[in-house]
Amino acid sequence: MARFQRHIFVCTNERPAGHPKGCCREKGSEEIRAALKSGLKQRGVADVVRANASGCLDACEFGVSVVIYPEGIWYGGVTLEDVPQIIERTVLNGEVIERLVIQDPRYAPSKKQFAILPLPPKKV
Ligand code: FES
Repeated sequence: MARFQRHIFVCTNERPAGHPKGCCREKGSEEIRAALKSGLKQRGVADVVRANASGCLDACEFGVSVVIYPEGIWYGGVTLEDVPQIIERTVLNGEVIERLVIQDPRYAPSKKQFAILPLPPKKV
């Protein structure tokens, strides 16, 4: 089995204040990544799912941008309040959260439901 089964890439790119493209960091992406990391740990799946900081994902106008691989699920406008649902619904249950999908055909998911994550055995 692969070391990690899913990766959640969170854009933490930073641009100078006033840059026309803006950036995900100014919208709180570092806090979102930290909350994902902590939530994965609380759910006991930090050994199989990794929340990674990413450079610009080239979806700046939709930020905070998040992409989950290997499924290629792109979410935009992600906030801290979305973190629990991303973990429970998408990461653990393979469900695409429609309201978070970036509304651009280039980012459309190939399916609405992916495999449920097999949870690792509880550590004793
Ligand atoms: S700055 Fe976040 S996607 Fe480009």
